[in-house]
Amino acid sequence: MNRGRDPAVSVVAGPASGDLAARVARRLGAGLVRAEARVFSDGETKLTLRGRVSTRCAVVVQSMEPPVDTNMMAALSLVSAASEHARMTVAVIPYVAYARQDRAFLEGEVVTMGVVGRMLKAAGAARILTVDIHSRAGLRFLGTRARNVSAVGALAAHFGKMKLVGPMVVSPDAGGRGRAEEFASHLGAPCIALEKKRDRRTGAVSIVTRDADVSGRDVILVDDMISTGGSIIKAAGFLRKRGCRRVYAACTHALLLGDAARKIRAAGVTRVVGTNTVGGEASAVDVSGVIAEGIDCGAPPRRGPLRGPAGR
Ligand code: R5P
Repeated sequence: MNRGRDPAVSVVAGPASGDLAARVARRLGAGLVRAEARVFSDGETKLTLRGRVSTRCAVVVQSMEPPVDTNMMAALSLVSAASEHARMTVAVIPYVAYARQDRAFLEGEVVTMGVVGRMLKAAGAARILTVDIHSRAGLRFLGTRARNVSAVGALAAHFGKMKLVGPMVVSPDAGGRGRAEEFASHLGAPCIALEKKRDRRTGAVSIVTRDADVSGRDVILVDDMISTGGSIIKAAGFLRKRGCRRVYAACTHALLLGDAARKIRAAGVTRVVGTNTVGGEASAVDVSGVIAEGIDCGAPPRRGPLRGPAGR
């Protein structure tokens, strides 16, 4: 595998993020190493690296999108494999699964985000880069060498090219207000945040805000992720009842599980625009630029000789 010239930087493309990794590699002028994935009948994935991994810096790009545990395991395995060659391994996890499990909401709940952080470190990630991770608390679990970059500017630029009537930016919940305000400032549009309540046992959401003046306006709902679509559907229903014109949804991670896309359309949302942190029809906005800018291959935190399989 490691024949030929030693590149300064290698980008290792995980099976969930092949296209995004290739774009990041082009921007960095780095060599691209593809990871071939073969899934066995018991669900295990066998990964084979196709190309030379730099001894200096390896950047592993692998999202933890559904199937979450399979893609997380692939991320961990690729980070581990890359760190056997490179002095510096940067794990780029565009979508971090379990980031919503950053605290125990109900007694006895396991805070799985802590486990994700520990596993990435144990696998050999010297630095971690995420895109719009769900919360600061989630980022803290990834350790001090983790950094989050924002896709909000790229998403807002996409909407800036559209012909919108009196656009107004709306966060579907109070927690997303900062993100929505940042989006609105790029567009030069007003911004409000709705108050959402989620039943921690059933997961059902409801809007508790009483009123909002959105009449005649095109509204853009801005969220970090759309999973089942429940939050966006409730918010869209609320806004449409108050006489808005069109409703759009912008999010970084458009997971759109099951028939979420159909249900969101049926709720009167004209279009969902996401980014290529995850695959899918709505993932229209490219974030390879912000990722490439955020990668730091600088002074490697090297302790002793390179690790090999025998020394692990
Ligand atoms: C919640 O705090 C998040 O920011 C999203 O609003 C939520 O996770 C989206 O999930 P769903 O589409 O299932 O409502």
